[in-house]
Amino acid sequence: MTPRLPGLLFCLLALGSGSACTRRSTAQPIPPVGNLAPRGFAPTDIASEARRAITEKIAKRERQFHELYEPGSIWNELRIEQRDIDSRRIQLPRLIEIGRELFSNDFSVETGLGNGLAASKAPMAGSRPAPNLRHVQYRSFGGPDGTRCVGCHHVGGVGGAGFRADNSFVDGDGDVPTSGLERNPRPLFGAALVQRLGEEMTSELQAQARHAIKNLRPGESAALTSKGISFGSLKRDKSGRLDSSGVRGVSLDLIVRPFGWKGTESSLRQLVVTSLQQNLGIQAEELIHRHAPAEQLGNGPKEDPDADGVKREATVGMVTALTAYLAALSPSSEDLLVAPNFSLQLARGQKLFQSLGCADCHTPELPLEDPVLHLGPDENSQPVVDLTPLLASSATRGKRPLSVRLYSDLRRHNMGDDLADSRSQQGISRKQWLTPPLWGISSTGPYLHDGRAGDIESAILAHGGEASAARNAYAQLQVADSEPLRMFLLSLNRPAQVEFKP
Ligand code: HEC
Ligand code: HEC
Repeated sequence: MTPRLPGLLFCLLALGSGSACTRRSTAQPIPPVGNLAPRGFAPTDIASEARRAITEKIAKRERQFHELYEPGSIWNELRIEQRDIDSRRIQLPRLIEIGRELFSNDFSVETGLGNGLAASKAPMAGSRPAPNLRHVQYRSFGGPDGTRCVGCHHVGGVGGAGFRADNSFVDGDGDVPTSGLERNPRPLFGAALVQRLGEEMTSELQAQARHAIKNLRPGESAALTSKGISFGSLKRDKSGRLDSSGVRGVSLDLIVRPFGWKGTESSLRQLVVTSLQQNLGIQAEELIHRHAPAEQLGNGPKEDPDADGVKREATVGMVTALTAYLAALSPSSEDLLVAPNFSLQLARGQKLFQSLGCADCHTPELPLEDPVLHLGPDENSQPVVDLTPLLASSATRGKRPLSVRLYSDLRRHNMGDDLADSRSQQGISRKQWLTPPLWGISSTGPYLHDGRAGDIESAILAHGGEASAARNAYAQLQVADSEPLRMFLLSLNRPAQVEFKP
């Protein structure tokens, strides 16, 4: 988890001219990402996908046999170093493949799973020997509550959502479920596009704030908007002080954090590092070298803070591979284009989505100006990728800005008492939730932050707070009248893909 969010002024000071938040030099050439991800519905695609999946499965079995007479052989192939990625000895397609394997890899005590802190009686330590698995996480230290990423992210395909039984209890006391905040695993498809959208919105909002700080006169206010989404306003009060009480849906540092049910994270790489720590007890080198506090790492030896006898549990290169794999997961495709028999109802459903007010938060599309994303540990490292191929729609190809049809405004909303948590999280109030993108929604149930809704209709009916009007408008429709809306939501699907069950 991130430390306390800095205030607006802190961030704006830190922004300066050439500092932390200013962006990248555009290193060339930029390889497209997503060339391994299946796209579209053409039968040839599915056939070649099937061949790929079968070949992969056979190769995996062979490697498992190999592992038996040469222990460590699979693992050693996956333990890659960032210098080999920077020198391009490991190229993007191979990197994504390694990331995919790491995502499905079953970690073991030998490869660093969990922790051996029980004897130390540290506050975060459970009572059992390594891996010390438990269902309720301890604050920012985490569990471990899983043995592999795909164990929780599998609904709708590898990299998908999770069942309710896969829920995590985050930020708890390590023991009692009600001490934690219950969270359903989120689908990861299209996450790289979401990160870039968030980055562009952050730059825009912060530029507006800088302008306002410089130019606002007492009594004046300035709107904060990005990509057509309103984030409230900044005001200078009569005494000349800047008043940020009108800022909406984003933290006061104006960093748009489009990940996590509450909008707590802005970078996929950072999420890979924290997921490794909190879900698997795999300590990334970069987390240790960033001098994260003992509260997050454990109080063991310097190079092995979780005291399980394994050092360098996840190298910088392994984190890059996992990040590249997530970045290559393509988002949904809309069946709208491929279900001509239902096009009338689907168009009606799309209209209802607008007229009921769903689209006020689940904004159908956001424009993306610059689809180039840095995946490495710093600005100068590899890979730097172009996300354009992830957007399958031929209508958007070659155009700028690109249109990302994610059905979210990437901001938080008050969703009322029934959906509220028992307490706030990282300074975000109990009732505030990020609008989740709805792309791929038909294949990622159960729904809502704790997975309480088994189907899409229950999810809609659970809306409250700012969404009460939309919910009520939906509930008042006759079943037959609301059917096109459910059909439309059902059309927001994952691209066809062939996967063997993990
Ligand atoms: C025990 C279950 C579990 C395991 C194992 C797990 N995750 Fe997750 N993951 C979750 C939950 C729950 C969330 C939602 C957390 C939240 O919103 O606060 C999540 C969220 C994420 C997100 C953010 C997605 C978004 O759009 O907000 C990413 C990225 C992610 N996980 C990656 C990983 C990776 C990489 C691994 C393996 C290193 C992993 N997860 C292992 C349960 C799990
Ligand atoms: C005020 C903003 C807002 C409006 C209006 C709104 N939603 Fe939502 N929607 C959200 C938020 C925020 C969540 C997540 C709430 C949670 O997890 O507790 C959500 C969740 C959902 C989910 C579940 C997504 C998932 O991944 O679990 C669906 C489906 C959904 N909304 C559909 C709709 C439909 C259909 C309408 C119109 C009838 C609508 N929403 C109106 C903000 C809104």
